[in-house]
Amino acid sequence: MDWGKLNRLQSIFHPTSGNTVMLAIDHGYFQGPTTGLKNPQETVKTLLPYADCLFATRGIVRTCVEENTRVPLFLRVSGGPSILGELSNEDVTVSMKDAVRLNAAGVGLSIFVGAQNEDRTVSNLAKVVNEAQEYGIPVLAITAVGRDMVRDARYLGLACRIAAEIGADIVKTYYCEHFESVVKSCPVPIVIAGGKKILEKDALQMARNAIDEGAVGVDMGRNIFQSESPTAMIQAVRKIVHEGATVDDAYALFEKLNDHKPLA
Ligand code: R5P
Repeated sequence: MDWGKLNRLQSIFHPTSGNTVMLAIDHGYFQGPTTGLKNPQETVKTLLPYADCLFATRGIVRTCVEENTRVPLFLRVSGGPSILGELSNEDVTVSMKDAVRLNAAGVGLSIFVGAQNEDRTVSNLAKVVNEAQEYGIPVLAITAVGRDMVRDARYLGLACRIAAEIGADIVKTYYCEHFESVVKSCPVPIVIAGGKKILEKDALQMARNAIDEGAVGVDMGRNIFQSESPTAMIQAVRKIVHEGATVDDAYALFEKLNDHKPLA
């Protein structure tokens, strides 16, 4: 890997733990104003200080993130359909030049393996990897799951491996039973998405399991910004990802810091 790309990729990992807590706030690109993200400026202001990396669209970066931020940005560069349409109908939405202009540490896009437009989304990934190579920008592939698709190790293993084979430098996928087999068969690092909001303790358990089974971190959204206390939750997640805390210890921290101030 060339120096610039390695340097950008390493910028999202904690120097001591070697893991990362990426904060995913890109949901509006197909869900519109989502709970916890209805006022994106507020969400960014509240949570950015605790993130190792922000995963967002260029529109949110331009309007909600201070130019002097020290937090590396991964830019979502795919989109198109809304929640009302066929989700796999995505195209590439951001040029690599614009990603460079925004000083992105990396770019990310979804592939929809097994969905109607599987081939198009995998070829979107290939095109983005080719272009990103020219600039030394790392690419994160997201194994998006269509509405009717299962999230088991066989399916997620297939999607992660395809993403790595096409050239992704890092993959975001979901946690599942037998997750370690997904990690083992994927030659690049994996971070987990959190998925739909669940109880805080369960989300911490999922993060614990994922790290124990080989993930290098999380790229978590709803289980942080939709928590009853987003700042407490992200700090509890950090305790798991960076300090090797048990779920009980991380949850105790959540309870201690819980200010009962959810985001709109
Ligand atoms: C989908 O909207 C995006 O790829 C999210 O960044 C990803 O799903 C992580 O967010 P969450 O933890 O809410 O699933």
